[in-house]
Amino acid sequence: MPTIRVTSSAGPYRVVCAPGAVGRVREHLSSLGTHTGIFFLSSPRVWGHCGPAVARAIPGGAARQPILFDDRESAKRLAAVEGIARMLVRAGADRHAILIAVGGGVVGDVAGFAAACYLRGVRLVHVPTTLVAQVDSAVGGKTGVNLPEGKNLVGAFYPPRLVIADPNLLATLPHREFRSGLYEVIKYGVIADAGLFRFLERKMDTVLRRDASALSFIISRSIGIKARVASADEREGGLRQILNFGHTFGHALETATGYRRFLHGEAVAWGMIVAARIAQATERLASEDAHRVVRLVAAVGPLPAMPVISPTKLRGILLGDKKAHGGRVLWVLPGRIGKTAWGIDVPWPVIWRSVQNAPEMFAEARRGLAAEAEAHGRMRR
Ligand SMILES: NC(=O)c1ccc[n+]([C@@H]2O[C@H](COP(=O)([O-])OP(=O)(O)OC[C@H]3O[C@@H](n4cnc5c(N)ncnc54)[C@H](O)[C@@H]3O)[C@@H](O)[C@H]2O)c1
Ligand SMILES: [Zn+2]
Repeated sequence: MPTIRVTSSAGPYRVVCAPGAVGRVREHLSSLGTHTGIFFLSSPRVWGHCGPAVARAIPGGAARQPILFDDRESAKRLAAVEGIARMLVRAGADRHAILIAVGGGVVGDVAGFAAACYLRGVRLVHVPTTLVAQVDSAVGGKTGVNLPEGKNLVGAFYPPRLVIADPNLLATLPHREFRSGLYEVIKYGVIADAGLFRFLERKMDTVLRRDASALSFIISRSIGIKARVASADEREGGLRQILNFGHTFGHALETATGYRRFLHGEAVAWGMIVAARIAQATERLASEDAHRVVRLVAAVGPLPAMPVISPTKLRGILLGDKKAHGGRVLWVLPGRIGKTAWGIDVPWPVIWRSVQNAPEMFAEARRGLAAEAEAHGRMRR
């Protein structure tokens, strides 16, 4: 089965990405050596959709009680980690146990942090069930929980021993969640993979239908990039910053709207439009390429509208971001599709003008796509 290798400070691990991969989880687990028990960690909703397929693939798995916890973002708290640890003790998990986290990014981050802390660390396997988790959160070793003061403020680097990314598990994912993950896939195309970007330009309709082979292709290419970047720079000292393309403005939008209006990927979508516009305005990126980025984002579908936000407020939020450096906001900007630079200081007037231009650029791209679809329909009639 297609396998991607990731290196980490805690040793290398494999990411298996293929339709039906969960059906062979037993085989993949055998490479991890002996254990004293397997424990599933998931949420009631995810387990309802994906649990049986995972459990069936492990001898005696169907009889095993999973440890279930709330996977709402508001429940991604230290209290959840304590709850999991207590249930593990009661279920008899010792240092030679293997924990299998089955779920989206919330389950993975909480279960991963629990695995890092429980008995000072037990083996962790991720079975990601959202597109975001498959292409992003399950690979790279970041785990953690939120505090009332902010997101992901307590956590640990704790790489898994194995990741099984099975696109078939995405069949039940709500469409808005699926589309939100697609923006992160577009991000990988822009920052590092012109071939992936072109594939998405040609095949967006097929991808939106969740065609198994199209999904396998875009997921494995995305994981390949995440794996390469995280292997080269585990702790985000340099190269890993390119993964923040679209996130500088995206995070600011999420903060400005109290994390309620946008799913994360949707905020990143606006962030990529703004970053492409900044790159165009500062003559790093050809106008044609900037328009290709906006057009591909628009091809995924409509986005929740950008909120009205004053320049003073936006500037304050951008400077307050944990990734701002001593009063400077450093941007990740593409030089062409598939190639990106990071750590770029941009004059405030350029940022502000680009933010103001973004809604019209997006609307224009949506109108263009609608006109094309119309013409295509007329030709077929
Ligand atoms: N550790 C990292 O590197 C990293 C990277 C990106 C995001 N994250 C974190 O990930 C979280 C977001 O994760 P997410 O986008 O995967 O969303 P999520 O975990 O919140 O899941 C979204 C929703 O989909 C449901 N769901 C999950 N899988 C399903 C399936 N197969 N079928 C039907 N429903 C399903 C969940 O129950 C939930 O309601 C955030 O907390 C973010 O901070 C972490
Ligand atoms: Zn992201």
